[in-house]
Amino acid sequence: MRKKIVAGNWKMNLNDSEASELIQNVNAEKINDVELIIFPPFLYLDRAVNNSIQTKVGAQNCYPENSGAFTGEISPEQLQSVGVEFCLVGHSERRSILGESNAFLKSKVNALLSNQLQVVFCCGEVKEERESGVQNQIVKNQLEESLFHLSEEDFQNVIVAYEPVWAIGTGLTASSDQAEEMHAFIRSLIAQKYSESTAENTSILYGGSCNPTNAQELFSKENVDGGLIGGAALKADSFLAIAKSF
Ligand code: PGA
Repeated sequence: MRKKIVAGNWKMNLNDSEASELIQNVNAEKINDVELIIFPPFLYLDRAVNNSIQTKVGAQNCYPENSGAFTGEISPEQLQSVGVEFCLVGHSERRSILGESNAFLKSKVNALLSNQLQVVFCCGEVKEERESGVQNQIVKNQLEESLFHLSEEDFQNVIVAYEPVWAIGTGLTASSDQAEEMHAFIRSLIAQKYSESTAENTSILYGGSCNPTNAQELFSKENVDGGLIGGAALKADSFLAIAKSF
């Protein structure tokens, strides 16, 4: 059975004391049957690992080398050494603002898996692509060019997050039917590439303006296994309310 997951992407938000408070508060109430993962900025990862009772901890980014002259970057090996268990790859903000290509994301996936970190791989189309009806092709290319080189064994350490770019931070959410349609499509691609059982066991999260009001409807869909939450993850009460929406 695949896991239900609610993950909070804090992005470049919160100062030192606000981060401590949020780490404490998302661990203050016991949530059953849902894996909670938080993705704080690098600065607070060590603290998050050391103060987490129920939350798992992930990084928002990494550089695909173990060490060396890469000023300002953080390696999967370094993340693993402080107890980080997950890393985001392919978030639309890094694709568009930092210009990360599918090929570069593939190298991050490889570097993370070879350091025993789990990958939360983000994919999704922009507004113009949705309007011209090519969203399935876009997502298929993203998966094929960054993930589908993996062995079936390595793919067990991948979580997919479908995040339509037009829904991120905009207050516009994909309808639960739009989300379900894409999630079912992604699962069918995984089944074709690997096997029915790997497809059934892969958690596919929805991201993009998910909040306590719409989470229940989204999570009621068969192929929606949870959410990758941005804005609503910055307050413990809304993050935990989303986790209780299954
Ligand atoms: P949002 O962000 O929930 O603020 O739309 C989601 C994300 O970027 O992962």
